[in-house]
Amino acid sequence: MADIKKPWAGRFEKPTEPSVEDFTESVSFDHQLYKYDIQGSIAHATMLTVCGLLTEKEKEAIILGLKEIEKEIEQGNFSFQKGLEDIHMNIEAALIRKLGDAGKKLHTARSRNDQVALDLRLWTRESIGQVSLLIEGLQSELAQKGKAHIDLIIPGFTHLQHAQPVLLAHHLLAYVEMLERDRERLADSMTRVNHSPLGACALAGTTLPIDQEMTAQLLGFSKPCSNSIDAVSDRDFCLEFASNIAILSMHLSRLAEEWILWASPEFEFIELDESLCTGSSIMPQKRNPDVLELIRAKCARVYGNLFFLFSLMKALPLSYNRDMQEDKVAIFDIASTIKASLILLEKVVKGTTFKPENIAIACKKGFLDATALAEYLVIKGLPFRQAHEVVGKLVRRAAQEGKMLKEFSLDELSQFSPLIDVGVYNVLGVENCIKHYKGTSSTSPSAVRERLEWWLTSLGRSKKAQ
Ligand code: ARG
Repeated sequence: MADIKKPWAGRFEKPTEPSVEDFTESVSFDHQLYKYDIQGSIAHATMLTVCGLLTEKEKEAIILGLKEIEKEIEQGNFSFQKGLEDIHMNIEAALIRKLGDAGKKLHTARSRNDQVALDLRLWTRESIGQVSLLIEGLQSELAQKGKAHIDLIIPGFTHLQHAQPVLLAHHLLAYVEMLERDRERLADSMTRVNHSPLGACALAGTTLPIDQEMTAQLLGFSKPCSNSIDAVSDRDFCLEFASNIAILSMHLSRLAEEWILWASPEFEFIELDESLCTGSSIMPQKRNPDVLELIRAKCARVYGNLFFLFSLMKALPLSYNRDMQEDKVAIFDIASTIKASLILLEKVVKGTTFKPENIAIACKKGFLDATALAEYLVIKGLPFRQAHEVVGKLVRRAAQEGKMLKEFSLDELSQFSPLIDVGVYNVLGVENCIKHYKGTSSTSPSAVRERLEWWLTSLGRSKKAQ
C-alpha cells in the first residue's frame, strides 16, 4: 500500500517499507472506534465553525461526508487501508477524497493523540453502560432463582466443608450484592472517564482560537481535561475499567466454579440446561459444564489483559508514545470477553434446575446445626467457649455413632450439659436452625425475603426505565 499518500508524507523522501506498514498499523483492530471517531469529528467541526475556523458550508459538507462514511463502514462498503495506519487517518483520507479542501480542514486544532484519547474515552463510556446493563440482567436472573426456591435450605460452606445451613436465596443474593458493587465501581469510574481530551492536540494545545468547553459539552463530557499533557498521556481510565472488569470477572469465576461443583455427581445440587452443555468425543455419557469452565477461564484472560495494560504503561515517559496504540488490543478483548461471559452466565442461571431432594440429603451431613446448638447453650447461660466444647464432644459422639444431633434422646443430650432441655429440639435440624437466625444480613427467612423483594423491585424498576 506504499502508493497511498499519507497525511504526514510531507517531510519524507522515501516511501514506507511495507513491513513497517504492516507492523505499525492499527486499523485492523481500531476500526472498532469508527463510531466514536465520527461522533468526535462532528463535534470538533461544529466547534471549529463557531470559532470561525470553518465556514458553515464546510461544516455541513464535513458532517454529511462523515455520516456517509459511517454508513459505508456499517454496510461493509468501506475499504480500510493499512497504509493509512489507523481508523483516524482512514476516515480523514476518505473525507478528503469526498470533499477535497474542506476535508483537509477537519484536522485543524487536532492531533491523532487527542483524537485517539477521545475515541477511547467515548468507547469506555459506552462499554461501561453496556456491561452495567448485562450485570443487571444477571442479577435479575439470580434473584428470580432465589424467589423460585424461597424456602430451599442448602448447606453453607466454609473451607468447602459443611458449615451452617443457609437459604439458597441468601447464597444467590450474595452474588447479587457483589455484582451490585461491580456496577457501582463502574458507575463511579465515570466521573474520571467522562472528561474531554479534545483541544490537547499533540500535547501542548493549540495556538488557534478553540473552545474546549463546547466540544466537551457537545459530546456529553462533564468537562475538558485540565492539562493537555495529561489528556494525551494517560490511560488510567482504561486501567480503571480493566481493573473493575477484572474484579467482576473474579466474581463470575467463583459462581462458575461453584456451579461446576454443584453440577458434579459428588454434589448433584443442580442440573444444567442441556442446550448449554457440551459432550465428549470419546465418552458417550458425558455432559460437560464447558460454558461455566470457560467463564472461569475468561477471568484469567481478563487478568492477562489487565497486566498487559499495566506493563504497557509502566515507565512510559510523557506524553503520547506509540506503545499506547496496543492498549486497544487489550481493552477491546476485555470488553468483549466480559460481555460474552455475562450473557452466557445469565443463560446458565436461567436454565438451571435445582434438585431439592439431593440438597436435603446433603443437609443431613456435616452437623450444620452444631453452631446453633452452641448458641442455644449460650442463651441458657453457658459461656460460648464452654458451649463450643460441649457441642464439640457431642459431635464427636454423633460421628462415632453415625447419627445426626437431633437423633439423640434428651437423656443422651443432657449427659453433655444439664442445661439442655426438651426445647433443644426446636433448634436442632436445619429447618429449625434457619428459623432462629437474627439480624438483617443473616440467612433468617424474614431478612432474606425482605432483601429479595427489595432486589426484585429495584431490578424490575430499572428494567422498566430502560
Ligand atoms: N493509532 C494511534 C494509536 O492508537 C493513534 C495516534 C497516533 N499518533 C501518532 N502521533 N502517531 O495510538
